[in-house]
Amino acid sequence: MQVILAEHAGFCFGVQKALDKVEEELQKHDHVSTYGPLIHNPQVVERLAQQGVQAIEDLHTANPTRVVIRSHGVGPEVYSCAEQRGFTVIDATCPFVKKVQKAAQRFTDQGYQVLVAGDREHPEVQGIVAWTGGKALVVANQKEAEALNLLGKVALIAQTTLKESTLREISQALHQKELQVEVENTICSATAKRQEAAQKLVEQVDVMVVIGGRNSSNTKKLAQICQEAGVPTYHIEKPEELDCHYFKNVQKAGVTAGASTPHWIIEEVVQRMSEWNQEENENKEIATEQEA
Ligand code: F3S
Repeated sequence: MQVILAEHAGFCFGVQKALDKVEEELQKHDHVSTYGPLIHNPQVVERLAQQGVQAIEDLHTANPTRVVIRSHGVGPEVYSCAEQRGFTVIDATCPFVKKVQKAAQRFTDQGYQVLVAGDREHPEVQGIVAWTGGKALVVANQKEAEALNLLGKVALIAQTTLKESTLREISQALHQKELQVEVENTICSATAKRQEAAQKLVEQVDVMVVIGGRNSSNTKKLAQICQEAGVPTYHIEKPEELDCHYFKNVQKAGVTAGASTPHWIIEEVVQRMSEWNQEENENKEIATEQEA
């Protein structure tokens, strides 16, 4: 079995930057707090907790300290609350997310009805909506866009990790209506590159392994892309979850990973798959030898 890693996989620039900020803080202070878990990867969050990084869920009740805003970003009310309560804010919001927040605010100021294509439960989307004073509407898919009853001018922006095809479908549904539609594609390039690489790889392999947090939006999208291509796809968080039955009679196995998956986990997964491969080859050689 040949194990092939996608051309673009694992930590993106925004997640790496957020982790670097936390590490910088850890060098100067014993305790560092993050507003919510820093990234959607339980293994990384656990490792950080062992180093003294604590996640704060509610700034109203926590003791004022140094707090890192995670890469997903937050709404303006979180900055005000932090300031009022005496927190020192270290802002690790990804610049791509900041760009979406600014676009949401700008379009709202210009009188547009802002539509955010994405997952309404995701903190990034909730933060973006907050920058419109709660006026933006969230649209998850084409069906929801078709059902919208709107007039006037609308601006469509997207969660940074949305699938390109979903944005296209939503945009097409809006253009069917009598609306003035402005579309700003705010899907980040790291997401697009990972999705394109997964799409390319899934066409060449018999099975795909997608590594990343089960709560990671962009990892789930990668798994969805692979499943939609009709290839058996396994979404795992850590190497221990691999099962050798996944690779029975498999010639080529593909591996990809979400933007919040660290390289040490990817390496361990690839290593484990390659070791099985080697064992399998050795067993085949022994069997051939015995037959002869
Ligand atoms: Fe930023 Fe894109 Fe990563 S928005 S956090 S670079 S997936």
